[in-house]
Amino acid sequence: MPILDSLRPMPHLRVLVTAGANGIGAAIARAFHEAGARVHVCDIDRSALDRLTAELPGITGSMADVAVAADIDLVFDDVQASLGGLDVLVNNAGIAGPTGPIESIEGAGWERTIAVNLNSQYYFARRAVPMLKQSLAGPCLISIGSVAGRLGYAYRTPYAASKWAIVGLTKSLAIELGPHDIRVNAILPGTVEGERMRGVIAARAAAVGVSVDEMRQQYLSKISLRRMVDADDVAALALFLCSPAARNMTGQAISIDGNVEYL
Ligand SMILES: NC(=O)c1ccc[n+]([C@@H]2O[C@H](COP(=O)([O-])OP(=O)(O)OC[C@H]3O[C@@H](n4cnc5c(N)ncnc54)[C@H](O)[C@@H]3O)[C@@H](O)[C@H]2O)c1
Repeated sequence: MPILDSLRPMPHLRVLVTAGANGIGAAIARAFHEAGARVHVCDIDRSALDRLTAELPGITGSMADVAVAADIDLVFDDVQASLGGLDVLVNNAGIAGPTGPIESIEGAGWERTIAVNLNSQYYFARRAVPMLKQSLAGPCLISIGSVAGRLGYAYRTPYAASKWAIVGLTKSLAIELGPHDIRVNAILPGTVEGERMRGVIAARAAAVGVSVDEMRQQYLSKISLRRMVDADDVAALALFLCSPAARNMTGQAISIDGNVEYL
């Protein structure tokens, strides 16, 4: 197949997106759905799940807290029932976690951030990999990391630590699973326009004592392209990584961030 004809993922891929009812996860779920894939999402937010599955009836959903192993077992029961197997896992779930100097960060906030952002990726990967090994459709595992997994990020230590760990997980799994023809890559979004980023900017403005507008300008001034990315940019990269055009890409941590120069 000519390489340029292969830029879209194969239709009928069976895809699981964690925390897929809102934000970047929902953009990824929608993009795969529109490309002809069969998509299952899980999320902790019942009403957001209901909204997404009502809007896009081909998508199925499970309620789950991705930090709870028993919930994840139930998600995989649903995946087996609704998709009958799995070709792509998008480990998207991640929370911002607490903002502040290390001595102000409570143990509970630290541990919850690691549980949602990192432990979930382990739980989902260990259940998905046996299914990916059965896949004949170019199986892929994609982890959503962050620019905070490429640069240090003061006052966001739990988040940055969890996102750097995801890169280690990705690179190790790529080596482990390459002989099975399973590709494993991380996408590192930068500052993504949307509700969550508004919250992050407001929290940081309060933490360092400047206005929200000033903090927004500070964020933009660190980006070479002087603009935020949007969730569809992340979804487009996920589609590409699952397409035949990316058949030889694995073990990579790929930034999509307008080139964030520092944090
Ligand atoms: N938004 C950004 O600017 C940005 C930048 C870099 C990386 N990221 C990463 O992208 C991923 C998605 O971020 P987003 O901005 O779309 O997030 P978001 O805050 O918009 O939340 C997306 C979804 O996660 C769900 N969720 C939260 N905790 C959950 C849990 N414990 N179990 C199940 N679902 C849960 C929420 O209900 C929501 O539907 C995260 O891993 C995040 O770290 C985001």
